Amino acid sequence: MPTVTIDGVAVEVEKGQTILDAARKLGIWIPTLCYHPAVAQPATCRLCMVELDRGGWKQLVTSCNYPVRQDIEVSVTSERAVAARRGVMELTLARAPENEQLQALARRMGVEGTPLPMVSTAQRDCILCGLCTAVCEEVIGRAAIGFAGRGMDRAVASPFRQPAEDCIACGACAAICPVGTIQIRIHEDTDEIEISPFKTRAKLQRCTECGARVVSLPVTEEVLRSANIDWEKYREHARLCPACRRRQAAGAIAAGSTGTRQQE
Ligand code: SF4
Ligand code: FES
Repeated sequence: MPTVTIDGVAVEVEKGQTILDAARKLGIWIPTLCYHPAVAQPATCRLCMVELDRGGWKQLVTSCNYPVRQDIEVSVTSERAVAARRGVMELTLARAPENEQLQALARRMGVEGTPLPMVSTAQRDCILCGLCTAVCEEVIGRAAIGFAGRGMDRAVASPFRQPAEDCIACGACAAICPVGTIQIRIHEDTDEIEISPFKTRAKLQRCTECGARVVSLPVTEEVLRSANIDWEKYREHARLCPACRRRQAAGAIAAGSTGTRQQE
């Protein structure tokens, strides 16, 4: 196994693991924004830069997607690496200067605000990290959103900036967005979930026992389909919230029944 030495501390990692993996193994913090283990690394934010010592020369590399194949030496704390990350943070802040998550991360990096003017109003607070489009495509298997526009107008959007037919309103994009640009709104009056800013809406499924909101109807259908479960057969069971489902299963066991799944 190759050894990664970070600021003098060595750790072995599996071949192909990244410098970021090595740092985390050592408990060394490197700031990240576009890193998420659920998706292939887009490496768009550049916030995780470290200085790699190549013997004769040193090079800045993004730690989240730099695979370790041989013994290497790295510095997270070198003047050059710290300055590079702070510079990137100032640029990133210029896209979303009021964003609280970003400000908190900046403070942790020792960056207090940005001297740069705000560079975009294309989509409030979006830092173009690409995590939302990646999770939609790689994990959910859809392509309901993508990048649109150029330069300062570049933003994540649904096709033609209209509600996307492909969207099942699962909310994965909102969950993964590191700066809270994508929001889930519940419309009490129509019993709908909305993924904002994409304007996509879907009916919410309510638990048939207690009435609690569960997930959007398209999500339930998608999950059952992908798991090869007969939607018609399990329709009622699937429409229970987790608590009612557990109660029903416990009742079935107490009554000597083997439970819905095994009754098949
Ligand atoms: S909406 Fe959020 S997750 Fe998507 S690119 Fe912008 S900042 Fe990243
Ligand atoms: S976390 Fe590495 S480039 Fe964004």
